[in-house]
Amino acid sequence: MSVRMIGTGSAVPKLRVTNEDLSRIIDTSDEWIYSRTGIRARHIAVEETTAQLAADAAEAALSMAQLAAEDIDLMIGATATPDRLLPGLACEVQRILGATRAVAFDINAACSGFLFGLNIADAYLRSGVYQNALVIGAETLSRLTDWTDRGTCVLFGDGAGAAVVAVDGAEETRGILGMVQGSDGGRGMVLSCANRPLNNPYVNHGNEIPYVHMNGQEVYKFAVKTVPAAIMQAVEKARLSVDEIDLFLLHQANYRIIEAVAKRLGQPMEKFPTNMQEHGNISAASVPILLDEVKRSGRIKDGDKIVLAGFGAGLTWGAAVLEW
Ligand code: ACO
Repeated sequence: MSVRMIGTGSAVPKLRVTNEDLSRIIDTSDEWIYSRTGIRARHIAVEETTAQLAADAAEAALSMAQLAAEDIDLMIGATATPDRLLPGLACEVQRILGATRAVAFDINAACSGFLFGLNIADAYLRSGVYQNALVIGAETLSRLTDWTDRGTCVLFGDGAGAAVVAVDGAEETRGILGMVQGSDGGRGMVLSCANRPLNNPYVNHGNEIPYVHMNGQEVYKFAVKTVPAAIMQAVEKARLSVDEIDLFLLHQANYRIIEAVAKRLGQPMEKFPTNMQEHGNISAASVPILLDEVKRSGRIKDGDKIVLAGFGAGLTWGAAVLEW
């Protein structure tokens, strides 16, 4: 028995905002942003919601998997930016799709959310509790961004990605081969965003809207050290060597982080497709959107061995090895 990924999908908002567009509203330049991050553009929600983007991505994944919404029995929504605190994202997507047989719930593991969701789905499916799962990473980070802070607002974008994972009784050696997860709450404040302030009959902390705060250099150091180690552990669990991996699909925070990871793993950049040029950093949505774009480009062949890796706020990190 194995657990295989049988469908992927993604969706981004219509509005495409380039670095030049941003330089008209804040003091920045394409040269500064591109040279430090690799980002050229991002898509920003205007009419779109996190739930509708997630549902569009999920529909595309179901279509590739040749499954109907009613075939799904587990739906996990990974997000830090749901449209509502209640009900959660996954329940909203369940309503939009009509996935009436599913149990639906959310997790928040920031940019590692899709990886953590995949690990949860894998555990449920392997233990026989469910058969077909939809794992969604969806964000409208533009709602958490301080659009007057040039140090952060140039980095993020909006969008959603989804994958269908299913139990495959016939294949022993394909599917999800190894996964690792980790977290370090002790360093959580290097990348944070407060919730709305505590405000009740006994205390009043005001009505200020909180935004994302980041110590970029600490995040950079964390990522280039932790991600290669997590990938090596996942590859070992899968009983493979890192040279046997065909593609590494990493969270799209920053091109320089990906170059540093590739160097530490001794792997060529050709094995590390990127899309932050077009999308910026979309937190939990970034890995499944990249996976979907690479899959639909025809670059993933049957039998290919693929690493997925996410890292971000928490701090959290996760890596998975799949044989397609
Ligand atoms: N345009 C122009 N100038 C800018 C901008 C901007 N958008 N943002 C900051 N600056 C200026 C600063 O004001 C500062 O100017 P000063 O020297 O006159 O004070 C100068 O550029 C350097 O600022 P730093 O914040 O020190 O910039 P740094 O070189 O560290 O680069 C960056 C910032 C790209 C975020 C870097 O720290 C990095 O790569 N961090 C990795 C973390 C990351 O990518 N996080 C994404 C989200 S987290 C995640 O998804 C895991």
